[in-house]
Amino acid sequence: MKILVTGASGFLGRAVVEELQETFRVAALGHQHAEGHIRSLDLRDAMAWRSELEEAAPDLVVHCAAYRDPDFCERYQEETRRLNITPLRVLADSLPPTARVIFISTDYVFDGQNAPYREESARHPINFYGQSKLEAEDIVLERAQSVVLRIPLLMGCGPTFDQSGLIAKMIQSVRSEELAELDDRILRFPTDITDIARAIRFLIESNAAGIYHATQSEGKTQYGWAMTIASLMGQAVDHIRPVDATETRIAARPLNSQLAMDRLQRVGFVPQNSFEHVARKVLALES
Ligand SMILES: NC(=O)c1ccc[n+]([C@@H]2O[C@H](COP(=O)([O-])OP(=O)(O)OC[C@H]3O[C@@H](n4cnc5c(N)ncnc54)[C@H](OP(=O)(O)O)[C@@H]3O)[C@@H](O)[C@H]2O)c1
Repeated sequence: MKILVTGASGFLGRAVVEELQETFRVAALGHQHAEGHIRSLDLRDAMAWRSELEEAAPDLVVHCAAYRDPDFCERYQEETRRLNITPLRVLADSLPPTARVIFISTDYVFDGQNAPYREESARHPINFYGQSKLEAEDIVLERAQSVVLRIPLLMGCGPTFDQSGLIAKMIQSVRSEELAELDDRILRFPTDITDIARAIRFLIESNAAGIYHATQSEGKTQYGWAMTIASLMGQAVDHIRPVDATETRIAARPLNSQLAMDRLQRVGFVPQNSFEHVARKVLALES
């Protein structure tokens, strides 16, 4: 099977390529950070994207590329449409009906009022990032045999400390003596990128179709997770203050968008890597 991965130079995409290339023929696309085996293609260029799909003729596309900062998406809505929605329309129009798509979506399609959310729960995004993903989901779901995989906040380790996302940032914040304010209102369910990559392999190999959720079950606020890291490090945290950051952001955030993982769990998939496990691995990279 020939698989095309978009967003392969991103946090999740790298882990997806690593997981899939053991078994499948994988072609990887990135944009500004593309290097090595990852080719650069601007997905906002519809003609170039269409030609790529026609020439590569993949059996399956794992679509990770997106703008994912809710504040950016809120401020630059037309630009967000150009990457988060339009390339999905090109994809749907260019691929033969037999080709499958696995589209990476988000818990932000929900409003946070009624968690946990099941795969069939009604969507109601409260920011434009969530709205852009909802519209892209609808395009993907028009195709039989395609998958929408909703995921929460991502965490991951490496390859370097600086590439370890939110955990590296929290370790730096705990380590530093500088006064920091961390949100203590919004519940987050950080889930490891290698677990999500395994879920994607599982969905491919089981010929899954429709909507799936993949998530860790433990939720804490940003402040709560920082306290977990501080206790792993055995470090005092008098310089970190819990705050309600919801008022100061450009885009609204759901307060609790916990996903229920019914469909994947029913077929035997469970995430393996807890926050503590990933945090210990990132701490080991620190020196
Ligand atoms: N990170 C999270 O916590 C989170 C949570 C829920 C859902 N998601 C979803 O998971 C997916 C992956 O997220 P991520 O954290 O891996 O994001 P990321 O690290 O920001 O990576 C985004 C990817 O999109 C590519 N890209 C950006 N502009 C592009 C363009 N014009 N043309 C082609 N490619 C372009 C980037 O390429 P270059 O870097 O090479 O420019 C990069 O490979 C996204 O769909 C996101 O919405 C993420």
